[in-house]
Amino acid sequence: VPYLSGLLPPSHEPPKMNPVVEPLSWMLGTWLSDPPGVGTFPTLQPFQYLEEVHISHVGQPMLNFSFNSFHPDTHKPMHRECGFIRLKPDTNKVAFISAQNTGIVEVEEGEVNGHELCISSHSVSRISFAKEPHVEQITRKFRLNSEGKLEQTVSMATTTQPMTQHLHITYKKV
Ligand code: HEM
Repeated sequence: VPYLSGLLPPSHEPPKMNPVVEPLSWMLGTWLSDPPGVGTFPTLQPFQYLEEVHISHVGQPMLNFSFNSFHPDTHKPMHRECGFIRLKPDTNKVAFISAQNTGIVEVEEGEVNGHELCISSHSVSRISFAKEPHVEQITRKFRLNSEGKLEQTVSMATTTQPMTQHLHITYKKV
């Protein structure tokens, strides 16, 4: 339930979707990695991860998201981020705002075209004691594939590496 508990009766109807977010409605839902995601980077041993994604709305002209990843064997929590996805009304321009458990806060902007969202960071900030190497730029692509699964690809540039793919994952709706 998207409401603060106690303020509305539990039987309250789900909010009506704001028409502004309709171009991103294909992202809505709870999604689970299937198969596990794959992590890569020139400085890292390739790794796998599980991820649970919630993308929802409360009737406002924006989506709410959380991405929570887990170790594939131990299920220990790993990377976590949450934020908002905004659309500029009457355009396909999208803004993506994310706070990450690693101490990064970032803003990405881009476009939605059909069932594909391509965004790239305009700003990446971090806490003063964030782990090195620092992230300089992030780009992401989300798409709904022909099997109805959601895919996310994340690339990044750091202070030591040029823009390279870090993550690729496919999710099924649950
Ligand atoms: C390492 C950034 C998402 C797992 C790293 C590094 C950076 C980074 C900068 C260090 C690379 C190096 O040492 O050269 C990011 C950013 C993310 C993200 C910006 C999201 C936009 C994730 C996710 C997972 C993940 C979803 C899933 C578990 C890892 C692992 C390492 C790593 C296992 C190597 C060990 C470590 O440094 O903790 N990431 N990451 N990352 N990342 Fe990510």
